[in-house]
Amino acid sequence: MTPASSRPAGPRWAVALVTGASSGIGAAFARRLAAAGSDLVVVARRRDRLEELAGELATAHGVHVETLVADLTDADQLALVVARLADADRPVDLLVNNAGAGGHGAYASLAVDDVEAMIRLNLLAPVRLTSAALPGMVARGGGGIVNVSSISGEQPIPFVATYAATKAFLTSLSESLHEEARDKGVTVTAVLPGFTRSEFHDRADMGRSIPKPFWITADEVAAAALEAVARGQAISVPRFSYRVLVALARHAPRGLVRRVAGMVGRRT
Ligand SMILES: NC(=O)c1ccc[n+]([C@@H]2O[C@H](COP(=O)([O-])OP(=O)(O)OC[C@H]3O[C@@H](n4cnc5c(N)ncnc54)[C@H](OP(=O)(O)O)[C@@H]3O)[C@@H](O)[C@H]2O)c1
Repeated sequence: MTPASSRPAGPRWAVALVTGASSGIGAAFARRLAAAGSDLVVVARRRDRLEELAGELATAHGVHVETLVADLTDADQLALVVARLADADRPVDLLVNNAGAGGHGAYASLAVDDVEAMIRLNLLAPVRLTSAALPGMVARGGGGIVNVSSISGEQPIPFVATYAATKAFLTSLSESLHEEARDKGVTVTAVLPGFTRSEFHDRADMGRSIPKPFWITADEVAAAALEAVARGQAISVPRFSYRVLVALARHAPRGLVRRVAGMVGRRT
């Protein structure tokens, strides 16, 4: 692949693969990338949603959109996405690891199978997909990986413990890989959204008590993330108020942060 700096005019990313593209932040990524001229591979479980999106984007922007129906918690279905990313004849130059799910409750009351499913989706799937995509990007001398993490990963959150832990892992992994890959022409960027309007909170039965001014849009998240990866940034925290919150979580005494996070976690 031609390095980004000397690539002829055209979309910054020729082909992007977006997981969790059937709603929310993933659909916003797909729409922005298609509008910029990127061909897409869109991944999720709901075939009808993916096909509807593919039709919309192909008609509006003349891009090619492949749909890949897969439950990323299932090893065999995840392997289909791995195979697509590792296919050297059809290189993907931007991977957006976006699919994820939340959940809450006192850890002692949770079924361990549900805990494990969240870890498989939020953590092991991005790990496998990154391992499938990164070597080819490094060999071609260019590419990008966006990992949609969360401000929830910046501190432990009692009652949202597993979700917070998966996102802490994802942010840490992304930052390390950013340093490993930056001189190979590959940018790895962690995106840390705050409360974002999508289907996420309804699915997880969370977030109803969060005041209106805290909410941001999925498009705002996708726009900030794509700008960050284009600029070669390691981390993107959309919205100034959330950047302040992240700075507080990083610098305030850990015990205090845990207690406040626990109060928020219990309320959500
Ligand atoms: N919304 C927020 O406030 C917020 C804040 C911080 C971070 N995030 C992160 O943002 C990412 C996107 O979430 P969202 O807010 O856009 O939520 P969303 O609207 O619920 O979208 C989640 C996406 O993931 C897909 N997905 C869920 N389970 C899957 C599975 N087992 N296999 C394959 N795909 C699966 C869903 O599609 P199907 O159901 O069709 O499979 C959907 O496309 C997540 O990683 C989330 O942790 C969200």
